[in-house]
Amino acid sequence: MASVPAYSISSDAIAQERERADKSGEDFDVAKVIQLDTLALAELGDTDVRFRVLAVSAEHNIDHASTADTVNIADVRGGKIYPGNSATGEVLEVGDGVTRFKAGDIVITHCNGGPDEYGYPLRIFGYDAEESTGWYSKEAVVDQWQLIQAPLDCGLNLWEIAALPLRAPTAYHLWRRALGIYRLKVSSEHKARLNVMSFGGGVGELFLMLAKAQGHNAFFCAGSAERRKSLEAHGIIGIDQKQFNRFASRDDVRAFSKHTRGLTGGEQFHVVCDMLRGPCFAAGLAVSSRQGVNVSAGWQLSQQVDYNSTLMSVKQVTIDHTHYETAEGAAAATELYGSVFKPTIHKEIYAWEDLPRAHAEMHHNSQTGIPIVRIADEMPDAVKAILPD
Ligand SMILES: NC(=O)c1ccc[n+]([C@@H]2O[C@H](COP(=O)([O-])OP(=O)(O)OC[C@H]3O[C@@H](n4cnc5c(N)ncnc54)[C@H](OP(=O)(O)O)[C@@H]3O)[C@@H](O)[C@H]2O)c1
Repeated sequence: MASVPAYSISSDAIAQERERADKSGEDFDVAKVIQLDTLALAELGDTDVRFRVLAVSAEHNIDHASTADTVNIADVRGGKIYPGNSATGEVLEVGDGVTRFKAGDIVITHCNGGPDEYGYPLRIFGYDAEESTGWYSKEAVVDQWQLIQAPLDCGLNLWEIAALPLRAPTAYHLWRRALGIYRLKVSSEHKARLNVMSFGGGVGELFLMLAKAQGHNAFFCAGSAERRKSLEAHGIIGIDQKQFNRFASRDDVRAFSKHTRGLTGGEQFHVVCDMLRGPCFAAGLAVSSRQGVNVSAGWQLSQQVDYNSTLMSVKQVTIDHTHYETAEGAAAATELYGSVFKPTIHKEIYAWEDLPRAHAEMHHNSQTGIPIVRIADEMPDAVKAILPD
């Protein structure tokens, strides 16, 4: 069984860093928790593919795994996980029963780690799916089920493609669910053009690109001026969340609501994508229109929410929870790379050895776009035409 360099997160490393950090947890350093390790690759099975990882994106659930702020997933998985839910790679070898891939193909992953009876994930690959090892490694072996051909001619460069395997299917599912729910209540005969708002983050940005591509009014409410500016280039209107103190008080939410009423001609938002919960949840509900829909696949700021059920009933607002796409939905989302999904990339492309720092900077919310880590030094000829200088 071959071994390759890979990053891991262990419950010991989390405990040690908790011990070192001050009581407030303010100086907790996720870069000390994500540690360079060695991964024993699984034997190549009949339907397995072995691939060389070329680039990955930094994902927020690595932050959750490192801080163990929601669930201590390393502990639950027996003391250690090999993280990484999103990768772009080059196929090196395939099992005898593999029909969809051959050596030399460039592939992306999806992280649906095992579907329920409707195709939606019960577990996430590389996170809570049993036995799964993620893709922050030099090589990986996965069942062909886990892979999609990379759309090399979609117009995006390699880093932009590497930004999307986890976030685009998440956004795609959120959008089709939100729109479907809204349309169950209000037909396009009554309302064609919706006001759609999302709070900050890579998923929220992609969600708004879907809305904008379908002719809706899209609004991005984020603290980062750089990210707002880059979305404005797509015709997506920015709202500075910090102008409303990130909704620290009721007065801030009231001021936000007044501002958005002005922006939307009094109508407010038919669809809101939250992703963060915490103070964003109350603010998102406050600016929902009648018949509105509030969707989220994230809980970065809080796992718990509460709301006035009477008020939401009277306004007929639907609060929906999603997790991740089906494998088919992930493939469908990939069809929209470049035509709809044009992600904003953080200005630094991190080197392999800087992967822990990429996550520390994500933890401190200092990045200006989706963070990408280059894993392979040598890139295959197949991607050279889309490799930025
Ligand atoms: N269920 C799933 O499959 C799935 C998939 C992807 C993501 N998620 C979850 O969804 C969440 C967002 O993911 P993402 O990939 O979009 O994240 P991301 O690209 O890392 O962005 C996170 C955003 O959160 C905002 N933020 C950070 N601290 C904040 C604060 N204190 N108050 C308000 N906003 C703050 C920042 O925007 P500004 O500073 O610009 O406001 C930042 O851009 C994460 O919790 C992630 O785990 C779930």
